[in-house]
Amino acid sequence: MGDRDLKKLVIFYSFEGNTKFIAESISEIVGADLLELKPKKDVESKGFMKYLWGGRQVIMGKKPELVPVDKNTRDYDLLFIGTPIWASRYVPAINTFLDTVQINGKKIAFFCCHAGGGNGKAFKMLKEQLKGNEVLGEIEFKEPLKKGKEEAKQRLKEWTEEIMGD
Ligand SMILES: Cc1cc2nc3c(=O)[nH]c(=O)nc-3n(C[C@H](O)[C@H](O)[C@H](O)COP(=O)(O)O)c2cc1C
Repeated sequence: MGDRDLKKLVIFYSFEGNTKFIAESISEIVGADLLELKPKKDVESKGFMKYLWGGRQVIMGKKPELVPVDKNTRDYDLLFIGTPIWASRYVPAINTFLDTVQINGKKIAFFCCHAGGGNGKAFKMLKEQLKGNEVLGEIEFKEPLKKGKEEAKQRLKEWTEEIMGD
């Protein structure tokens, strides 16, 4: 079975839409289902307080309860996992998700959005969390909603071609 025939799922959390834009673009390009993670109680502030609240959640390793999801990773072969970078790590919603589901023997790929600090420790931590899976690749974007949606889509096309082969 070629990689193009794999059943694909894009799992992501997004607070301000950047990661959601990338998730939806991947879904469009490779024909994947989407699974958006939403904490029952999420960051409420849009101002500076969001950094304190969110950053604190990350550093304390919080696992907020999520709104129930309607997709099961067992039904998929290739999982794209996407997160904004918070305090140089992946977000609490992803933390909860990885704690709740057993992911083994899958092909996986990571994507993230940040504000200039790069992926920090996020991809490294995800790889550690997801040992027992085959990592096909990773890609990061600096605020694609501000910096250019078309350029981001073009990079995604090239990246998905590269990691999924012909
Ligand atoms: C709580 C919090 C912490 C953040 N920490 C970082 C960081 O450590 N490094 C960085 O480059 N950007 C950081 N950012 C910026 C976001 O990663 C960036 O704006 C990203 O594009 C947001 O994705 P989203 O629109 O999908 O929520 C932080 C944002 C928030 C809200």
